[in-house]
Amino acid sequence: MINIAILGYGTVGSGVVEVINKNRESINKNAGKEINIKYVLDLRTFPGDPVEKILTNDIEDILNDEEVKIVVEVMGGIEPAYSYVKRALLSGKSVVTSNKELVAKHGSELLKIAREKDINFLFEASVGGGIPLIRTLNQSLTADEIYEITGILNGTTNYILTKMTDEGRSFDEVLKVAQEKGYAERDPRADVEGHDACRKIAILSSLAFGMEVDFEDIYTEGITKITKNDILYAQKMKHSIKLLATSKKIDHKIFARVSPVMISDEHPLATVKGVFNAVLVKGNVVGDVMLYGKGAGKLPTASAVVVDVVDAVKHLNRNIVFSWSTEKMDLMELKDVPVRYFIRVSYKDFENAKKELQEVFGVNEIISLDNLDNEFAFISKEETEGILQEKLDTLKKQKAINKIANVIRIEN
Ligand code: HSE
Repeated sequence: MINIAILGYGTVGSGVVEVINKNRESINKNAGKEINIKYVLDLRTFPGDPVEKILTNDIEDILNDEEVKIVVEVMGGIEPAYSYVKRALLSGKSVVTSNKELVAKHGSELLKIAREKDINFLFEASVGGGIPLIRTLNQSLTADEIYEITGILNGTTNYILTKMTDEGRSFDEVLKVAQEKGYAERDPRADVEGHDACRKIAILSSLAFGMEVDFEDIYTEGITKITKNDILYAQKMKHSIKLLATSKKIDHKIFARVSPVMISDEHPLATVKGVFNAVLVKGNVVGDVMLYGKGAGKLPTASAVVVDVVDAVKHLNRNIVFSWSTEKMDLMELKDVPVRYFIRVSYKDFENAKKELQEVFGVNEIISLDNLDNEFAFISKEETEGILQEKLDTLKKQKAINKIANVIRIEN
């Protein structure tokens, strides 16, 4: 029998208990040993819940108990999660976590401790909820050199954008539903400003490229500036707006970004709707691989946590190697990255505005919406972001142009 302890009895923690109870027989068979939840740590009480019998509010009960071999951290946030996890690893207990903030900030250090102690630090649930992304990168694609990872890594924003597009509902109304369904972070700004997706792409990039990609170095833009009119333009052009997290090798350098992107309805990620996440991985041998599934929610996330618990049981005193080193990766600057922009412009005088557009961007073709007066949109040629920003500054200063209403990156 293997004893485990669960730190946190919130959405994910209660999901882990539920999954272990629901599929006890098959999980134990897969692990080759019986898994017993010896403790649940939480400061709250849960009268009437069977978990009360094993509830503690003192981390020392767990850290000092030699019978506990695996600690499951599902509290979220950096502290006290980081201190508890580090102490657990240092005392020889393997750790499984769903905490992307912790993994993005301290992953390389915690992996190093696990390696030195010949135990495991596993974090499948930290990215993409129930989709086996970490394991795929760390085990199934190890024959490849990965040169691109692009994904929809935040369920809340994909849910919001889908509902705004398909049902014409407002941003606030849909965000509220995402919160009720348990998809959104405690502070939903982490979702809608792109910070959650940023941490997730930092984790995937560190794994794929074998070095520490600091999430603070990743250019991050959320979906709060996306309006109904942007969505109408996208629909007119047979495109969808998605919050994409991407990292790519360009001329032996790595570039990473989180931002809304208009993608053609033919793009494989355009079909990913609602709370679903998907990741497109490109390898130099295997080609394109796409993984798809529920990226948020109690049971999909708990499923990924329990998979790690099973793996930790199977590798009790044997470290599962991760290539993610503590060496820091220098990312390419955004200004050097080639891209195309979709640009909305409001004008004072149509004919002259078109002439000015031709002079500055060398573009003739415009797109307009019937419901919008004194405004058109256009798509730039591909240039570096630095050059496109300079051209935007020049366009803003032209006489016939009123203002730039919005700019969104666009890909086919
Ligand atoms: N808030 C996150 C999301 C939860 O919406 O994807 C899963 O990490």
